[in-house]
Amino acid sequence: MVKISSTAVSHKRLAREMIKLVKKGITNAYAPYSSIPVSAGLYCKDGEIFTGVNIENSSYSLSMCAERVALFKAVASGQRNFLLLLLYSPKIDFILPCGACLQTLCEFSPELVIATMNTNEEFKFYPLKTLIKRPFRL
Ligand code: THU
Repeated sequence: MVKISSTAVSHKRLAREMIKLVKKGITNAYAPYSSIPVSAGLYCKDGEIFTGVNIENSSYSLSMCAERVALFKAVASGQRNFLLLLLYSPKIDFILPCGACLQTLCEFSPELVIATMNTNEEFKFYPLKTLIKRPFRL
């Protein structure tokens, strides 16, 4: 019983640690087409944190989500193991990753927990596995 609550508390602690960074990141989001800025923070197993924002393009389908920017920055820096992803948009309370981001996150950390936040800094937590039940695998 202690184990379950201590896991929950630690995810909340990691999410809290990233609030400032993720909120600050919103100013770097490039979202002139949707007007929906999104910011993400990815907490690595060794404690390092990578941030990402959405980056849109006039050729709409080339736009990139905040989650994948954070993930690709982390992987390109040598990270492979992730504990928690925190997501935030001032326009959408408790925003969740799209299917493409869920699939790319699964590649590295199927045990990842997704934290999402509203403007009052309240959290919801979802294990990645519950958001994508049958990821594509070779
Ligand atoms: N977007 C993200 O960055 N992450 C999500 O979780 C969902 C959507 C971006 C893509 C696009 O720039 C804008 O939000 C509106 O869809």
